[in-house]
Amino acid sequence: MAGFSVGEWVLLTSQKGKKWLVKIEDAPYSCHLGTIHMTDVVGREEGDIIETNTGAKLFLFRVSLEDYILNMKRQTQIIYPKDLAAMVFHADLHPGQTVLESGVGSGALTLCLLRAIGDGGRLISVEKRPEFAAQAMENVSRYFGAKHPAFHLVIGDIQDFSLRGPVDRVFLDLPEPWHAVAPVSRVIREGGLLLSLSPNVGQVQWMWRELKARGFANVSTFELLKRDWKIDELRARPFDRMVAHTGFIMVARKVRRNRPDVPPLQSSSA
Ligand SMILES: C[S@@+](CC[C@H](N)C(=O)[O-])C[C@H]1O[C@@H](n2cnc3c(N)ncnc32)[C@H](O)[C@@H]1O
Repeated sequence: MAGFSVGEWVLLTSQKGKKWLVKIEDAPYSCHLGTIHMTDVVGREEGDIIETNTGAKLFLFRVSLEDYILNMKRQTQIIYPKDLAAMVFHADLHPGQTVLESGVGSGALTLCLLRAIGDGGRLISVEKRPEFAAQAMENVSRYFGAKHPAFHLVIGDIQDFSLRGPVDRVFLDLPEPWHAVAPVSRVIREGGLLLSLSPNVGQVQWMWRELKARGFANVSTFELLKRDWKIDELRARPFDRMVAHTGFIMVARKVRRNRPDVPPLQSSSA
């Protein structure tokens, strides 16, 4: 890959792993380890080291989607990387698919969906708060460098949403996702997957009832616990603190309508 150029973002990383996401422009950048002039980064390769004016060494890396999401502007809670990764995988997302998402919030999930479906896919994202929609649009465009061709942002309430043509996947991150199940069940194609993330188990139970009533099967519910470890010459143990809870992920599949041979819904987790 070519060296860094003006206008790009670079991830400056200290020897201790502290990270700064900085735009490459004709300006100095200072942190507690000293100052570098950002134009000195131009032409260097990923993994190179640059020295600050105090002699501290910083690695130069390109920004991963995880780094970007954790550093972007946000006015809402976002879905954390461990859950984003699992949702994209369990949805069996691939390039070219049509996806419906609500709410959009700051756009963390939106970014992952767009990366997975690519330019040839179609993402319809429904958000009822215009100020959050504007922030998400800015976060998405800043990441991709321009408006993403697959991204269609709709300001409105998912409960009033209607769409012509089926979608392959639905993603919900809403305070009351069960109210969205009826409208999305009319647009998701048979065999399509619906994923929902909720922090409270009460929400999950409401969702389960609604999914059951609206013709979804293979409903599974899980949460993921990620425990980071501290490893160095002297220590190999878990960190004292962890993010113990983020949310429950639900995955369900739409069954064919009006088929007497379709068995009644059962939870796939025993
Ligand atoms: C937790 S945030 C979503 C965060 C987002 N998934 C992310 O990763 O950045 C929930 C969003 O749902 C939106 N919302 C709540 N109810 C809604 C509804 N009925 N229709 C559309 N959007 C809704 C809120 O305005 C908020 O922006």
